[in-house]
Amino acid sequence: MSNLSDMAVMKETPLAQVYRVIEPGPVVLLTTAYKGRPNVMTMSWHMAMEFEPPLIGCVVHSLDYSFNALRVTKECVISIPTVDLASKVVEIGNCSGRDVDKFGTFGLTPIPAKKVKAPLIAECLTNLECQVVNTSLVKKYNLFILKVIKAWTDPKRKERRTIHHNGDGTFVVDGRTIDLKKKMTKWQ
Ligand SMILES: Cc1cc2nc3c(=O)[nH]c(=O)nc-3n(C[C@H](O)[C@H](O)[C@H](O)COP(=O)(O)O)c2cc1C
Repeated sequence: MSNLSDMAVMKETPLAQVYRVIEPGPVVLLTTAYKGRPNVMTMSWHMAMEFEPPLIGCVVHSLDYSFNALRVTKECVISIPTVDLASKVVEIGNCSGRDVDKFGTFGLTPIPAKKVKAPLIAECLTNLECQVVNTSLVKKYNLFILKVIKAWTDPKRKERRTIHHNGDGTFVVDGRTIDLKKKMTKWQ
């Protein structure tokens, strides 16, 4: 067996960059309403955890204004933006609700949700109303487990391509779809 470091095919990747190759997409927006004030942050560290009821794990850093809002209110909306909103999505992730009214600044239209106080975003393709159902890993990993209790999609929206963060400020935009449904025999 050849020594890994002698192999031309594999180059060592710094551990600090590992998240870049497993970072899931799409980049989403997370809205909260704390003390009656709506806020929104950008998030790409999330994962699907269950089909139904849908569970989503997400990492919200304790320095984010949204962290406390989520911890206290135990509610949020995950809104899924499309590529036309990409620049705004980045800007939303580079300022804090502590200092800025992000809905006003970025021209986002809040729509009252059905089951939570956090607003939906009219400009997004999909909006998921969520409850925090588990906080046991928040202290250690900033990991909140969310249950989706209501989901909405804009059927008239023409632009439906989501964006996926490479972890370095570049993004992949949804492209070609390949249909392998026939091979998904275990997961019809
Ligand atoms: C593309 C992108 C992805 C991000 N993903 C996350 C994430 O998954 N978790 C997180 O805590 N912050 C993430 N951030 C950073 C927050 O969006 C950022 O800290 C934001 O200012 C927090 O807003 P808030 O203070 O109003 O809550 C991301 C930012 C960008 C631009």
